[in-house]
Amino acid sequence: MALDMEKIVSLCKRRGFVFQSSEIYGGISGFWDYGPLGVELKRNIKDAWWNDMVRNPPPGPDGEEISMVGLDCSLIMNPRVWEASGHVGGFSDPMVDCKTEGCKGRFRADQLKGAQCKLKPSKCPGEFEKCQLTEPRAFNLMFQTYVGAVQDASSVAYLRPETAQGIFANFKNVLDSSRLRVPFGIAQIGKAFRNEINPRNYTFRSREFEQMEIEFFCNPKESMKWYQWWRDRRIQWYSRLGIASSQLRPREQAQDELAHYSIGTTDIEYMFPFADEPQELEGVAHRGSYDLGQHQKHSGKDLTYFDEEAWERDKAGFGTGSFKAWAAKPENAEAIANYQFLPHVIEPSAGADRFTLAVLCEAYQEDKLPNEKGELEERIYMKFHPRLAPIKAAIFPLVRKEGMPEKAQALYRELKRDFLVAYDDKGAVGRRYRRQDEIGTPFCITIDGDTLKNDTVTIRDRDTSKQRRVPMKEVAAEIRAALVPAEW
Ligand code: GAP
Repeated sequence: MALDMEKIVSLCKRRGFVFQSSEIYGGISGFWDYGPLGVELKRNIKDAWWNDMVRNPPPGPDGEEISMVGLDCSLIMNPRVWEASGHVGGFSDPMVDCKTEGCKGRFRADQLKGAQCKLKPSKCPGEFEKCQLTEPRAFNLMFQTYVGAVQDASSVAYLRPETAQGIFANFKNVLDSSRLRVPFGIAQIGKAFRNEINPRNYTFRSREFEQMEIEFFCNPKESMKWYQWWRDRRIQWYSRLGIASSQLRPREQAQDELAHYSIGTTDIEYMFPFADEPQELEGVAHRGSYDLGQHQKHSGKDLTYFDEEAWERDKAGFGTGSFKAWAAKPENAEAIANYQFLPHVIEPSAGADRFTLAVLCEAYQEDKLPNEKGELEERIYMKFHPRLAPIKAAIFPLVRKEGMPEKAQALYRELKRDFLVAYDDKGAVGRRYRRQDEIGTPFCITIDGDTLKNDTVTIRDRDTSKQRRVPMKEVAAEIRAALVPAEW
């Protein structure tokens, strides 16, 4: 089935997953709001990432435990951070403006072929005889603001365009306040802002979005091993959450695509319905020591890591206990890096909103099911992985009498302590199933006449629509079992 993006957008609005920001005022391009179900879906995505990457990360390349910790940095940082990172000087797209009356459009110079001139929709900017395009100019993507009461050059600050730099700027703080040894990772989930010239494809390219980023610090000698390991784990993570591997494409960037400091980057791409080619969900980049090196240079602070274990192991052979004295001898200059170095960084950087959009596209299903009269009826269902589904189960009394509502409410109250569950007693039970199917609730639990006799309920599976009877006291365990993360 070729999926039509309009169907996803319509369902998201109809059922409260995604709304246009400030819609009652006509919206604002590149900004989106998550509705009551969307906020749960996105929260489940971020929780799954935090759980699987930070709290219980996968075993390392040799089956060993890996060290991961989290961070939550401010959105506005000292602007020197962005000078050091290269964002002030280089985070820009080449833009051309059209001077023609009635157009006055601004276009990305490298995407003129895909753009449309307002005056002549059939032509690309520059192709219509009246087009007057300027020379390309760099347009910085960072949102600028001022800190404090005075608005002048000295108070300029930026909304962060990525979460990564907060991690680099705190590298020494984390190291000094913990017992972490290299290799270890620091993770952060948070908002990032980019004044994208051409926000498009629903939430895919927005001006405000959330990132889920890891900076994994390792010994330069082991960095390729960690790069490959993170790339493979991150691809696996998407599959574990129900993304079909046929829809995922890991794409190693060619040498001429790589950022100047990058030793290797793999884009993990997803086949979104709005594009002919897979589009980036996440980049896994080997950034070498570029970022720590830049911050060391610009801040004047020593950000090197001292491998105490290696020094303690080897020092007896050097006839001195003092690393400083040993390192000061010119003949040891080359060997210093065995003990003191700027770690290399592997950065898996994912977009929470892009993955939410991929999950919505992947989950959307249409089929036909018999209604109460046995006639086939179209249904839409969202095949969310149970870990991501906004609502885990819905509880229905078959009828609103004979003690069924009381039993159903007791079960609802028990389950809602641990899971987000819904209670619905309105309308025919078939209609209630359809309502839950459309928002992707994996289990519907019905309390019927037999429940009153033997304390069993039916559990209906969303995808197969098959029902089975289980003892009421086992329902919580059934739901819990579906939420256990898969083995790596
Ligand atoms: N620290 C590296 C970094 O920020 P990036 O490729 O620019 O790398 C990482 O961004 C991820 O953030 C992307 O793979 C994408 O998922 C998400 N992202 C970037 N720009 C975005 C935008 N305008 N709208 C939504 N998500 C975006």
